[in-house]
Amino acid sequence: MIVLGIETSCDETAAAVVQDGTQVVSSVVASQVAVHKPFGGVVPELASRRHIEAVVPVVSQALDQAGMDLGHIQAVAVTQGPGLVGALLVGFNFARALAFARGLPWVGVNHLEGHVQALYLEPDPPPYPFVCLLASGGHTSIYHVNGPTRLEPMGQTLDDAAGEAFDKVAKALGLGYPGGGIIEKLARNGDPARIRFPRPCLDREGFDFSFSGIKTAVSRYLHNHPIGDDQMADVAAAFQEAVVDVLGTKLIAAAKARRCSRVALVGGVAANGRLRDQIRARAAENQVQAFLPSPAFCGDNAAMIAAAGFHHLAAGRRGRMEDDVFSRSRF
Ligand code: KG4
Ligand code: ZN
Repeated sequence: MIVLGIETSCDETAAAVVQDGTQVVSSVVASQVAVHKPFGGVVPELASRRHIEAVVPVVSQALDQAGMDLGHIQAVAVTQGPGLVGALLVGFNFARALAFARGLPWVGVNHLEGHVQALYLEPDPPPYPFVCLLASGGHTSIYHVNGPTRLEPMGQTLDDAAGEAFDKVAKALGLGYPGGGIIEKLARNGDPARIRFPRPCLDREGFDFSFSGIKTAVSRYLHNHPIGDDQMADVAAAFQEAVVDVLGTKLIAAAKARRCSRVALVGGVAANGRLRDQIRARAAENQVQAFLPSPAFCGDNAAMIAAAGFHHLAAGRRGRMEDDVFSRSRF
């Protein structure tokens, strides 16, 4: 089944053509970073407006890249939530109108299921079940994944998401937006051991996270130790190390608790090289197999939405005209 995927939950307008939930025929992501950068974060109203401008050209580009026209598309999958409601509505309304006009089946997709399905766009995807850490700008959760549409939550952040912490710390360091990539780059020149930031929740049972404490500790450190440019890299490295340590430790512990020999890492933060290396190393130490999407499919994209949608469509699920978007996920 050839599925057109559409994603507009936050600040990326994306469209992709994917066959049978695994083969990416084309994938186009139009980033709005330049629009939001001057504001130091995503401005929801501007995001919606930009999606309206971008959705038609981005879908056209995805079809062009695939060497297809709408006649080749057999179904449409679109992000239904969680995300910014105004942003979601652009893609959701576009997708169902397109499906209606073309007489195609369509389905709304949970963005978080999409991030997990990014694993299946790669050559060696994990067999089910596996334990998956999803770390993005809006979510940080661990799931026991029993099937493409079966995510059982094991734990989640009690406050900020991991990506949000990267973004806020980058802002506190005056480094700009979005923070993840900037901090990772700066941290390469820093000493992660010179400062030790707290590792919240590590001494607690269960698989919940808390990142606002690390962020506050960095702000307090910066307040108490006015630092020069040469020490910024140490702060970035020490902050990144604290986040990576907590994420890696909890993921392996969750796999052990479920006696599961497979872990996966998905979401925008999964593009972080230090986190990828740490998860791979800890998995190997614990005789656990680690699965990671390539960095291009870690951040928001529409190929993962088409992949997740494929499984719902194959199971007979269909969107209805009265369906609505949602801002928060049940899981
Ligand atoms: O999955 P995503 O693209 O959007 C959401 O669903 O939230 O994730 C975006 C988040 C941002 O907070 C960004 O700072 C973070 O992922 N991120 C990173 C890196 N690249 C993106 N965090 C750490 N290291 C990176 N290299
Ligand atoms: Zn996302």
